[in-house]
Amino acid sequence: MKISIIGAGNVGSLAAMRIAQEGLGDVFLIDIAKGLAHGKALDLEDARPLLKSNYSICGGEDIGLLKDSDIVVVTAGLARKPGMTREELLVKNSQILKEVSLKIKELARSAIVLIVTNPLDIMTFYALKITGFKPGKIFGMGISLDAARFVNLISQELQVPATDVEALVIGAHGEGMLPLPRFAKIKGVTLDEFIGEEKIKDLIGRTVNRGAQIVANLGSGSAFFAPSSAIAAIVKTIAKDEKRTIGLCSYLDGQYGIKNSCIGVPCRLGRNGIEQVIELDLSKEESAQLAKSAAAVAQATAQLSA
Ligand code: LAC
Repeated sequence: MKISIIGAGNVGSLAAMRIAQEGLGDVFLIDIAKGLAHGKALDLEDARPLLKSNYSICGGEDIGLLKDSDIVVVTAGLARKPGMTREELLVKNSQILKEVSLKIKELARSAIVLIVTNPLDIMTFYALKITGFKPGKIFGMGISLDAARFVNLISQELQVPATDVEALVIGAHGEGMLPLPRFAKIKGVTLDEFIGEEKIKDLIGRTVNRGAQIVANLGSGSAFFAPSSAIAAIVKTIAKDEKRTIGLCSYLDGQYGIKNSCIGVPCRLGRNGIEQVIELDLSKEESAQLAKSAAAVAQATAQLSA
């Protein structure tokens, strides 16, 4: 299986390492910055004897390297600076996404495409429009990362192992994100059995703000350890046809009462991409918030020239 990763920054290169180490396929790391992807691929090659793994990795500047990929992961684009929202990256990153999407359409027509570039939901919808691929074949990574953050913060608050906690986030990977405390469980027991409303509100706020908190601490660049882990988990589910349910930014065509927009929802994922959008039993208020989040994505995408 050929897996290409566009963008050899922190997120892309660490995702390449995780995917290669899992033995999921031949990994191609691509970046237009001169020497960057090639240099990182050489370094990753050298790690093979130390990691006792004969994974396959190569890197270069030519986007043509993605030809005939089975899976393409798009991380190319600018990252947030302290104080910026993900949405503020729109203009610059849409230009990059347009070029990359046209190349994917030309050279890797049967690929499954995972978009990671921010603003995530808008970039996913935009790439879907430009490639003209079937919606289940092109989708975005965002809310599985947000759910991991929600789980981590819950586990710290309750002093329980993160592996004992299950939690869901839906909506935009941005200011409109919706962590869903009603669906958060600790070994089957709902979150509100452990803590009150105020504490839950605080956990939600910290989840929404977690990416910005990391950006503010790093000073330059954004998070990469958890984002690359989220990418690798999604790629593994596709490559191994696991049919796991994962939160993804997916095109909706009537599900949740939303049409013609891309937004984060739980999806069953396999070798052919999204097999089913799982419809949660949302409250009226949750549904309204999700619809609002999706409308904002559709509106922003409509402003971008195809
Ligand atoms: C974050 C970036 C990757 O949430 O969107 O950290």
